[in-house]
Amino acid sequence: MNINAAILWEQGAPLSVEAAELGGPRAGEVLVEVKAAGVCHSDLHPARGEWPARTPLVLGHEGAGVVREVGEGVQALRPGDRVVFCWAPPCGVCPPCKEGRPVLCDRLERTTYRNRLPAGDTLLSARGQRLAHYNGTACFADFAVVAEEGLIPVADDVPFEALATLGCAVVTGVGAVFNAARPELGARVAVIGAGGVGLNVVQGARLAGCETVVALDTRAEPLRLAREFGATEVFDATGERVNEQVRELTGGRGADYVFDTVGAPATLAQALTLARKGGTVVVTGLSRLDALASFPLFPFVMQEKRLVGSVYGSGQPARDVPRLVELYREGRLKLTELATRTYQLEEVNEALDALADARGARGIIRWE
Ligand SMILES: NC(=O)c1ccc[n+]([C@@H]2O[C@H](COP(=O)([O-])OP(=O)(O)OC[C@H]3O[C@@H](n4cnc5c(N)ncnc54)[C@H](O)[C@@H]3O)[C@@H](O)[C@H]2O)c1
Ligand SMILES: [Zn+2]
Ligand SMILES: [Zn+2]
Repeated sequence: MNINAAILWEQGAPLSVEAAELGGPRAGEVLVEVKAAGVCHSDLHPARGEWPARTPLVLGHEGAGVVREVGEGVQALRPGDRVVFCWAPPCGVCPPCKEGRPVLCDRLERTTYRNRLPAGDTLLSARGQRLAHYNGTACFADFAVVAEEGLIPVADDVPFEALATLGCAVVTGVGAVFNAARPELGARVAVIGAGGVGLNVVQGARLAGCETVVALDTRAEPLRLAREFGATEVFDATGERVNEQVRELTGGRGADYVFDTVGAPATLAQALTLARKGGTVVVTGLSRLDALASFPLFPFVMQEKRLVGSVYGSGQPARDVPRLVELYREGRLKLTELATRTYQLEEVNEALDALADARGARGIIRWE
């Protein structure tokens, strides 16, 4: 079928929204009409050439839509179902899947992280060339074909603006709290970076009963939003006294849990400084592929700090996404508030620029 898609022809250049051809779903695949897509920093990294990626490539990995057609053998989904994209479709049979850690599924290295569908090959083409499906999702397009396991059905009455960011920013941020950190009630938390993921760490920490939640960012708008999402204090991350201020707010000891949602060498070092003795640093931010971090090793050991990486919320997206939808319905999780700006697909480059400038939470692309 003919669709419009946002294509990255060359890293570092703007995306081009143009006509593309999408093949129909094969066995185990599903055709989805995309209704809303969040613009995540993990789209910006390949667009700007910070991560290597083979082009041409259709970007987009966070979003929601409606099932229009199912391929042979698809049991769990039917045309008309409302779905959230999951960029980590688990195989179900590899060792991490069997150990209950589907986000570490071995198959992802051959599929999502190579921008291919599990069935292999690509169903997208334009200008006579084959296009890769970013993260096996490629939802910056009117329609997407994805693996059946890459879709999580949700209730029909949840608006697409709310679902747009659920499948990446929300699962990653809230999951980092509930599945990776598991803070005690009343814990004191610091969050570095209050963008799409960071705001969800903030609201996840409040949901988990953390008492002090300090958010740090280099920009004013993310800090304003962090307060709205439940941060008890906010600071400019580059302020001269910021580490002392966080210490003062955490009983003079440092935070029990620090979340680094930026993931740069400097923010990791800061996160370790902000953690108390015996405290835990959870890193969700993703650096350039060649980045190396360094931090003072001696106090790290002597103060028994813990350093934990967390991908895609460290849980089970197929279980966690419906639970997050329930929390939203109960009014306990902010979702629509994350979508601070709405764009047409043709405006995708503006959305990427706004994200690069950290103008606040998420821009989402909407199809009527
Ligand atoms: N682990 C995962 O599964 C996962 C999932 C989604 C995104 N990510 C990664 O997480 C990172 C954040 O993604 P996002 O979509 O939330 O990005 P974002 O652009 O929405 O937010 C980043 C925020 O960090 C702030 N920031 C930048 N440098 C800072 C610094 N030195 N100190 C404090 N704040 C700083 C920015 O102002 C911005 O508000 C990206 O690297 C992205 O690729 C990882
Ligand atoms: Zn993402
Ligand atoms: Zn697996």
